Amino acid sequence: MTLEDAKQASGYKAAEFVENGMIVGLGTGTTTAYFIQALLGRMGKGLNIQTVASSRHSADQARKGGLTVLDINEAPRIDLTVDGADEIDPQKRMIKGGGGAHVREKILASSSTEMVVIVDETKLVPQLGHVKLPVEILFYGSSATQSKIDALGYKGAWRMDPSGTLFLSENGNLIYDIHFPFPPKHPEQLHLQMIQIPGVVDTGFFFRLAGRVVVGRSDGSTYLLKNLNEQ
Ligand code: 5RP
Repeated sequence: MTLEDAKQASGYKAAEFVENGMIVGLGTGTTTAYFIQALLGRMGKGLNIQTVASSRHSADQARKGGLTVLDINEAPRIDLTVDGADEIDPQKRMIKGGGGAHVREKILASSSTEMVVIVDETKLVPQLGHVKLPVEILFYGSSATQSKIDALGYKGAWRMDPSGTLFLSENGNLIYDIHFPFPPKHPEQLHLQMIQIPGVVDTGFFFRLAGRVVVGRSDGSTYLLKNLNEQ
């Protein structure tokens, strides 16, 4: 049993929350790909839904399998968005954006009745900041934007493609990945500092967006992360 089994278990479990007639937001990433796979399997058994996608990759997977993918501006509502995370803490705060789609993912999550998060146990952390924080930045003035971030005391690097060219986000912007020597004590404050810098589109911090969190184990079992007041 492997990490892939854990990802599959959480993705498949979340697909059980989807009901006929729903408009479902599709996140991005390897765990979400299992969720979409499970939805496609349920379509063969009569599931009738529409979707909205946070990335070309998720839209392609959904469309190839026969799912309807709406433009977000055409969706009258989003009932449920299901998405992965790079890190999640006990308060269900997250860092996302490993796939460069976090701005669209946040728009979907914040426009949904519920965001269901699907993770394997390696994503559970006591404090956010072990992974790099993706910050999406406009190309125009990006050197000046970088200097302003660096002046706050944060160091990062421009994300690159495997081919050695600058990585472009789902929106065609740059991603500056910030490395923390220590997990930041006040992620909300840090987020607010960053988004006030002109040229910063958004950070990969997600606060107060996660609803149910389905955690997959490598033995194929799953559980729901408890809320802090239940622990
Ligand atoms: C993409 C994301 C992903 O949800 C996150 O990177 C987790 O991906 P994976 O399920 O492949 O571990 O935020 O922008």
